[in-house]
Amino acid sequence: MKNGQIWLDDQGKLIQAHGGMIARFGSRWYWYGENKDAPNCPGTTRVDVIGVSCYSSADLRSWHDEGLALAADGSAPELHPTQVLERPKVLFNEKTGKYVMWFHSDSPDYTQAKAGCAVADAPTGPFRFLHAMQPNRLDCRDMTLFVDQENRAWLVHSANWNKTLYFSRLTEDYLGFTGETYATLIDQEREAPALCYRDGRYYSVTSGCTGWSPNAALYAVSPHVNCGWKLIDNPCTGVEASTTYQGQPTWMFEHEGQLYLMLDHWKPHDLRHSGYSILPVSINGLTMEIPWQETVLEEEAP
Ligand code: DGJ
Repeated sequence: MKNGQIWLDDQGKLIQAHGGMIARFGSRWYWYGENKDAPNCPGTTRVDVIGVSCYSSADLRSWHDEGLALAADGSAPELHPTQVLERPKVLFNEKTGKYVMWFHSDSPDYTQAKAGCAVADAPTGPFRFLHAMQPNRLDCRDMTLFVDQENRAWLVHSANWNKTLYFSRLTEDYLGFTGETYATLIDQEREAPALCYRDGRYYSVTSGCTGWSPNAALYAVSPHVNCGWKLIDNPCTGVEASTTYQGQPTWMFEHEGQLYLMLDHWKPHDLRHSGYSILPVSINGLTMEIPWQETVLEEEAP
């Protein structure tokens, strides 16, 4: 797969899974993300909401379209096409046996800033919308989900109009909030959080706040998930480091011991053609590096 480009599914159609995530559930990989397969609303940088796409794969190379896991069918005000539904993320809850999705749910002027929740019996859905709320009375803008080493699940969300990144703990069933919430990277104005854990430390990669325009990523490190975070440096290298290779982080995942960072390459005036990258992440001591790589997960030559 060529990084920075649009990618096609196993039927030759555009993969529509922006602001997304990749995770393995059972024997298959699943890729969830925003379906933006419509022209931009004239003169704007928005596409009316279609829903959350789900693709599945056996090998992370060939992706099969499983359809909309959550459709913006107007069945709830938050699922109306005129609203905002961004950065969907899904966890499997071992205790309930359910797949739980959280996403940034907002009004077109981004003043609602809520976290939306939906639940399903299967990874491909259909997900049933449950509710949208401000976690612990905080706004939820760019967000991700993360399960820590103690099996606690967190909604990690930019709040206070993107000033501060919060960790709000999910209940055991992942469907609500316990009330435990921690401010990290206070007043650092970071968004697009992606997290991972390696050798006793938690790492986050975030972008700055410049709308759809790319900016420099920064990584942060902490021995604890909910406190002690320190911003360290830009993990990207070379001439395009200051724009995260014209991309923005959305998710980190591990495959065969290798960590990867997923990027979106937004095309604000033609969002459906926004591209993707998956870049290997290297961590040595406290140092994270994410060099550019033209291709990823290509078939090895025989
Ligand atoms: C940057 C965010 O990272 C995106 O998810 C999206 O909300 C855009 N801002 C909207 O301008």
